[in-house]
Amino acid sequence: MSDYALEMRRIEKSFAVPVLKGVDFAVKKGEVHALVGGNGAGKSTLMKIMTGVYSKDAGEIFIDGKTAVINNIHDANRYGIAMIFQELSLIQTMTVAENIFLGDEVTKNGVRDTAYMNRRSKEVLSSLGINVEPNTIVGTLSVGMSQMVEIAKAIAKEAKILVLDEPTASLSDSETEHLFRLIAELKSKGVSMIYISHRMNEILKVADSITILRDGLIAHTDQIENMDLNSIIMHMLKNKEGKKFDWVERDYDEQAPDLLTVEHLKVNDSIADISFSLKPGEILGFAGLMGSGRTEILETLFGRRRMLDGVVKLSGKKISLNNTKDAINAGFALIPEDRRKQGLVLIHTVKENAILPRVTRLCRKKLFVDEKQANEMVENNVKELNIITDNIHKRINLLSGGNQQKVVLAKWLNMKPEIIMLDEPTAGVDIGAKAEIIDLIRKLANEKKGVLFVSSELTELMAVCDRIIVLYDGRITGSLSRRELKAEEELQHAIQQKC
Ligand SMILES: Nc1ncnc2c1ncn2[C@@H]1O[C@H](COP(=O)(O)OP(=O)(O)OP(=O)(O)O)[C@@H](O)[C@H]1O
Ligand SMILES: [Mg+2]
Repeated sequence: MSDYALEMRRIEKSFAVPVLKGVDFAVKKGEVHALVGGNGAGKSTLMKIMTGVYSKDAGEIFIDGKTAVINNIHDANRYGIAMIFQELSLIQTMTVAENIFLGDEVTKNGVRDTAYMNRRSKEVLSSLGINVEPNTIVGTLSVGMSQMVEIAKAIAKEAKILVLDEPTASLSDSETEHLFRLIAELKSKGVSMIYISHRMNEILKVADSITILRDGLIAHTDQIENMDLNSIIMHMLKNKEGKKFDWVERDYDEQAPDLLTVEHLKVNDSIADISFSLKPGEILGFAGLMGSGRTEILETLFGRRRMLDGVVKLSGKKISLNNTKDAINAGFALIPEDRRKQGLVLIHTVKENAILPRVTRLCRKKLFVDEKQANEMVENNVKELNIITDNIHKRINLLSGGNQQKVVLAKWLNMKPEIIMLDEPTAGVDIGAKAEIIDLIRKLANEKKGVLFVSSELTELMAVCDRIIVLYDGRITGSLSRRELKAEEELQHAIQQKC
């Protein structure tokens, strides 16, 4: 018997260029092992090799001390390996139980034994403290709950090694807490977990050990108690200059006429009366818990949701926002929360995606540029946002998760919008790129653009905003000037207040 559930030795993998250059990675039984590294470092690729999605060019894999041959996902399943992908893979129209038993349905006298499958699913779900009825249709569940079901599915198949690739990226705080309890539960059952995340505070909280990948090689591996935020970042960025997250006090004309005025905006019954204004050059943050209405407000201003009541004025002139075309023509851009689904054409190249809004008919301003100019612009995006890609003609779905997100950002920045709305723009991007994005937001504001910025990461709001509006349950419960905010805890406290 080996102490290790998994060992990967000298793993190599190249696509157009080498991505993994001889990686050793080992996970002990019953531990939570964090796998971190910059966007494009090779984390997902390493895990996809272990789960049989990709084949390796060289190297060996051992499961419980014995050589393992993993050529496809079924092989991986047989070795007790399961991966929860960031893009969830449950079938939305089926029930929870049908999903859990998908691929190995139980039959009785030739028909599906729904009663048994429901009963057995219930057992697995309750043993993990997941409170959902097995006959619920998956499409009706929250993202958090779907993820729990996916984990239950892996456990029902007796997974011994579970990979969680950025599991909390779209979870609310309470869902994240629930996930952490589930992780603890699985650990006590002896399951080994590999936890990939760009949220360092989560890693420090949930992991027992950590491996840091940099440029296709292991930069460091250690017990978590020997590490802290700074040492992790140092290993991730080595030789690359890390930018700080500190607040830089900025000047904008607080007496200037409004760039944007929103009066009594009604989105639905709970978000019924939202009023605020934005000055040219101002960065206005929205803070609040998941479900407090931040995303809905931005989506309404972008014409993606119907505005039921209220007035929106741009530089004092009333405008109508019936659809996204109106919003884009008025000079709004929205970088959505769910970027990969809403923001990209996955079969197109980096360049095609980056110049997309400029070439669609949506944009009447005839901003279209010639090939040379387009290439220059996108090359510049790649440099400025440090997008890791072989070249700008690479298909976007072949980029790493975080790098895809940077392309969405580039795409909207290239539109030169007057008002730029960002919904969790740094989710899934690495520490270095987070700082780049924050810098870029400042730069836009310095050009007298207006910025509306939604983030669950209070450190970020504190770093970049001039003013922060606090929302609770669809109502504005406060407006805080950054200058007067002394500590993050004050903001934390504010978002939890009902009035
Ligand atoms: N199928 C593929 N074809 C070509 N290149 C690929 C393919 N899959 C991954 N790559 C490249 O391999 C590199 C590593 O990607 P990977 O997805 O492993 O990064 P990652 O560490 O998971 O990053 P992130 O934190 O952004 O998710 C990237 O440069 C990516 O473009
Ligand atoms: Mg990845």
